[in-house]
Amino acid sequence: MENFTFYAPTYFDFGRNTESHVAMLVKRFGGTNVLLHYGGGSIKRSGLYDRVTKCLEEEGIPYGELGGVQPNPRSGLVYEGIDLCRREGYDFILAVGGGSVIDSAKAIAAGTCYDGDFWDFYTKKATIQKALPVGVVLTIAAAGSEGSTNTVITNEKTGFKKGAGSDVLRPRFSILNPELTCTLPPYQTAAGATDIMIHICERYFSNTEEVEITDRLCEAVLKTMIYETPRVIKNPDHYEARANIMWAGMIAHNNVCCVGRVQDWASHHIEHELSALYDVTHGAGLAVIAPAWMRYVLTVNPHKLVQFAERVWDVPPQQTEEQTALKGIEAFEAFLKSIGMPLTFAEIGASEKDIDTLTKKLFEGQETEGNYVKLTAGDVKKIYEYATRRL
Ligand code: NZQ
Ligand code: ZN
Repeated sequence: MENFTFYAPTYFDFGRNTESHVAMLVKRFGGTNVLLHYGGGSIKRSGLYDRVTKCLEEEGIPYGELGGVQPNPRSGLVYEGIDLCRREGYDFILAVGGGSVIDSAKAIAAGTCYDGDFWDFYTKKATIQKALPVGVVLTIAAAGSEGSTNTVITNEKTGFKKGAGSDVLRPRFSILNPELTCTLPPYQTAAGATDIMIHICERYFSNTEEVEITDRLCEAVLKTMIYETPRVIKNPDHYEARANIMWAGMIAHNNVCCVGRVQDWASHHIEHELSALYDVTHGAGLAVIAPAWMRYVLTVNPHKLVQFAERVWDVPPQQTEEQTALKGIEAFEAFLKSIGMPLTFAEIGASEKDIDTLTKKLFEGQETEGNYVKLTAGDVKKIYEYATRRL
């Protein structure tokens, strides 16, 4: 196990009706003038917007609002949010929605406290030192942004989708009411579940030895997702299954499952090029890329894939390590298919013709991708090619 630091100070308020605590939590964490940030309207349709605003009004907390965050959130709205915060003197951002809303809120929070262009954080020209505090009411279990240090934004001018991170971006509080996720369409539920599982895989596929504690935590989250996801796909109102998935989503990405080991992240970065170019749902893009990545790295470094097959998918040892690992990948693909996820480029409207462009963009400013196997541009092209067809 490697040395590590772990600092995750988010206050979680989990369970039914916890959104009614929102004003109390905003006050507790220092908000006196709040920007309410949300997406394209799901919170209005579900009545959550009315409940949250009523709660703020009853506590006498002044607020303004900025809605319209799109999935794969865009830089344009972030600039608008930064201007708004400066103009109105907002000192707290309340993100009500999913990963896209939270990531946009984090970008506004950091950008407001920075004199330059907030995009500098995403191109690594600057590091995030300071940010307005962010609070969250989560409506989808997926990205894990409710407990993470990260934000991912698409720059619509350059077409790049990039991440940035800092401890100061961890939300001060996150309200997690699993009931709020019951209105999700099955496709979004499944895409969220896939994202959660791949957040674990990015950490699990590591060459660091002797990290049994985090290996076992990872396997527990994956097993939970394999058990619970079909239950919510079958019955969207299944509270207990929704609850387990919601907490799994947080655990999968606040880094508790990763400490002490080198992480991979190739599948995510390879996928981000797809969601940047085609605006696909992140989790669905991962369902196409992650198994293709597994099939490709299998030929180079099968050892962790064997463990994945045996411990997560209960595959009995086959004649060779490769055969065992392959059975695990096939089980994972069958699972993704069973929950309605795509497995090929065609199913997400991606084209083989764009593989060169996707690869070129990914390798701008870097020579290799990932850590479990250090991939060259040639390797990544092959992974995209694997993803164009069902193997
Ligand atoms: O915009 P609204 O109307 O709210 O609709 C959203 C959106 O269309 C809808 N939705 C959310 N909650 C709902 C609901 N519809 C009905 N009922 C509800 N309760 O779902 C759609 C997707 O929402 P989005 O926020 O985009 O989903 P998700 O949480 O999967 O976030 C995806 C974004 O997070 C980034 C992804 O790249 C992508 O941009 N990620 C962020 C990470 C982080 N900050 O740590 C890590 C992840 O790996 C990921 O890259
Ligand atoms: Zn993700």
